[in-house]
Amino acid sequence: MDIQSIILAAGKGSRMKSQLPKVLHQLAGKSLVQHVIDTCSSLSVAHCHLVVGHGADQVKQSVTSNRMQLHFVEQTEQLGTGHAVKVALPSLKTDSLVLILYGDVPLIHHDTLDDLIKLQQKNPQGIALMTCFLDDPTGYGRITRDDDGLVTGIVEHKDATPEQHLINEINTGIMCCHSSQLKKWIANLNNNNAQGEFYLTDIIAMAVAEGQGVATAQPINIYETEGINTLRQLADLERIWQREMANQLMDAGVTFRDPNRFDLRGSLTCEAGVVIDINCVVEGNVQLKQDVHIGPNVYLKNVTIGENSVIKANTFIENSQIADHCDIGPFARIRPEAQIKSNVHIGNFVEVKKSILSEGAKVGHLSYVGDSEVGKNVNIGAGTITCNYDGANKHKTIIEDDAFIGSDTQLVAPVTVGKGATVAAGTTVSADVSPGALCISRVRQKQIEHWQRPTKKK
Ligand code: UD1
Ligand code: CA
Repeated sequence: MDIQSIILAAGKGSRMKSQLPKVLHQLAGKSLVQHVIDTCSSLSVAHCHLVVGHGADQVKQSVTSNRMQLHFVEQTEQLGTGHAVKVALPSLKTDSLVLILYGDVPLIHHDTLDDLIKLQQKNPQGIALMTCFLDDPTGYGRITRDDDGLVTGIVEHKDATPEQHLINEINTGIMCCHSSQLKKWIANLNNNNAQGEFYLTDIIAMAVAEGQGVATAQPINIYETEGINTLRQLADLERIWQREMANQLMDAGVTFRDPNRFDLRGSLTCEAGVVIDINCVVEGNVQLKQDVHIGPNVYLKNVTIGENSVIKANTFIENSQIADHCDIGPFARIRPEAQIKSNVHIGNFVEVKKSILSEGAKVGHLSYVGDSEVGKNVNIGAGTITCNYDGANKHKTIIEDDAFIGSDTQLVAPVTVGKGATVAAGTTVSADVSPGALCISRVRQKQIEHWQRPTKKK
């Protein structure tokens, strides 16, 4: 049977005190609702119906899905969770299984939902409901059960009696049932309750009254069903998630100097022997091969780093490839489309952009290498600048194998320095240099004896 999901995401989230729609706040570098959408598509959900309201246009523009069809349903007035589901009903395919999720409960896990779907399939006319036991259930809907322990309904906190407030089994909001049953129950909802809202939760008692069972399941981890209402809760959940990611990496053999000071905003795969120091931020897809060491305060985005390479403190690398046995930083910036081959040394305050640095090349200090091809074993002295931009277009600098570029050199592109050539310190290279030659453009030093410095006027 087809599985469809309804994700409720129309609420305002006023407690976030933010202009940004609540479900677009980010957790681990991805919006809350996008987390839920991605989990749905991993479950082979065929159609996903996203109920939007507050900030609808912004939400619609920001979310994506490639494997699953995403349908937007607008709920112009937020009359409650039952009403939100109601507006999505007309777009549901008939004879399907419906999974109801919340756009502000981002970390619900694939396996947990898979179990819930399987539970529902044991009792196709009933409801499978995700509940959870909390030490402090304040604010949540409570699960009521009869003497045999069978679910009888859900009572919202604001409607509950003092005895019911003591129940610590709560409704996470996540549930699963057949589309035709859902349509029938939703049609019978009313808003006679403390909040004057159409409560989705009332369908539980309806199913029970019809003699359809309500089966419950619990998430594998409590944090999976935690919802976000405030920026504090968002920050807390972010930390829980980050620690979870660090734990998984440690289980796979990564050493963290402090797993509580690590941020993964994408995916990181590591081979054996990887060591990561504090405050590293990883975005996009990052791969660290065997024995890579990452120093403190390093930012990595869409990078592959080869075996035994060392990235020193405060280095920034994005959209680049670093081969094995490289030594980069501290304070280096490797910008997009850099290809750093093996045994390259890049030192402090060096910026590299869209360049190939071949095996054994060295750029030790304070240099800019852009739009360049740097040959094997080239040595680039301190303060070297490739002048790649003429104000309109970018031009290429080619430095062939074994060339030596003295300190404080400007290479005015387009220009080629031939194999084994030497460029003297302080030179402005504005024409090609032949292989093996010495190139020097430096005013001859002169000296004026007994020089009188200017003095201040009285
Ligand atoms: C709901 C449940 C409660 C459960 C809790 C779990 C109901 C009546 N109550 O309460 O039993 O313990 O979630 O977190 O369902 N939304 C809409 N349109 C609306 C109203 C809500 O899209 O008209 C969306 C919100 O954006 C949010 C979700 O539904 O993503 C939950 O709404 P919220 O008002 O936060 O529900 P609670 O009162 O917390
Ligand atoms: Ca509410």
